[in-house]
Amino acid sequence: MEVSKDIIYVGVNDYDLDLFEGQFVTPNGMAYNSYVILDDKIAVMDSVGYEFGDEWIENVKKATDGREPDYLVVQHMEPDHSANMVDFLNTFPGAKIVSSKKAFGMMMQFFGSDFADKQVVVKEGDTLELGNHTLNFIGAPMVHWPEVIMTYESTDKVLFSADGFGKFGATDADEDWACEARRYYFGIVGKYGQQVQAVLKKAANLDIQTICPLHGPVLNEDLGYYLGLYDTWSSYKPETEGVFIPYTSVYGNTKKAVDMLAEKLEAKGVKVSVMDLAREDWAEAIEDAFRYARVVFATTTYNNDVFPFTKTLLEHLAVRGYQNRKIGIIENSTWAPAVEKGVKKMLEGGKDIEFCETVVSIKSAMDDENIKQIEMLAEELSK
Ligand code: FEO
Repeated sequence: MEVSKDIIYVGVNDYDLDLFEGQFVTPNGMAYNSYVILDDKIAVMDSVGYEFGDEWIENVKKATDGREPDYLVVQHMEPDHSANMVDFLNTFPGAKIVSSKKAFGMMMQFFGSDFADKQVVVKEGDTLELGNHTLNFIGAPMVHWPEVIMTYESTDKVLFSADGFGKFGATDADEDWACEARRYYFGIVGKYGQQVQAVLKKAANLDIQTICPLHGPVLNEDLGYYLGLYDTWSSYKPETEGVFIPYTSVYGNTKKAVDMLAEKLEAKGVKVSVMDLAREDWAEAIEDAFRYARVVFATTTYNNDVFPFTKTLLEHLAVRGYQNRKIGIIENSTWAPAVEKGVKKMLEGGKDIEFCETVVSIKSAMDDENIKQIEMLAEELSK
């Protein structure tokens, strides 16, 4: 596949992967992208996951048509992109490695060598001339590892964005980009909004016509849409007005309250998304908690604390710097309620977290007072 006349896609699709990073489900596979830039000098942008080394090297050989690559640019050392470096160097012994200082330190850790005789260390602002094409390196520390660089190729106006603008799913997955890119972003990069904002500011000064990420499709149309979503996500602004209700329900009584709240909100014209945390993908729950402006945690007390699935979601959110949201609570307990206190304790450190005044506090099963509370909560959430 050609990205441009001189830039060729040499990545691979993994259709067998069950869990990306050992934790995220990948029902539509995963793409590990790599690109060859053909010029007087040939640069290969990143490697692919370990199991795909042979396929990748064959792709590189085909794209370069017998010529030996001069450079392997390693933008990110996570093994889904760096695993086949050694194979590459064995196959193309004349090639040099272009990477950040921190990345060479990580190569020592991963491979027992920092390839001292092949090093081209680059940092923010450095350039590498290939002939007609120039690589301009952009520091992207903590997006989402510390060694990350991105690369802007100024002739074809291509941004090689490392994990940025990546998504779950093979390149041929027939699915909405935003859904799986959002789940990827908030699952993997979400904690580092500030660092993503810093890179977006640098990108704003570039004339970008194509984005080549390390996962998911090459983006070459309507780039404002993708850049806009990344700006929203990394600045912790809600993307969708409406209410997300992640819930757990042991005997169905909490669910009855959730259904009633959803119905009342919808009757007021509010968009509602409801998710059973015990049965649905936890990474989708993280995604939706960041996507929506308002979130209602509906759950039971368990072991004098918040019920496990909800507690785990709250931990995921807190560690990712959850902020700027309005929060409602539906709690259920038969004795000694602990949910309100637990949810508030886990989220109250977040910037601009506002809790609804009304807490729906069920004792085992809903009563008339709870129905009034749900009405009041719906009113607060629809303002
Ligand atoms: Fe796609 Fe951070 O590795």
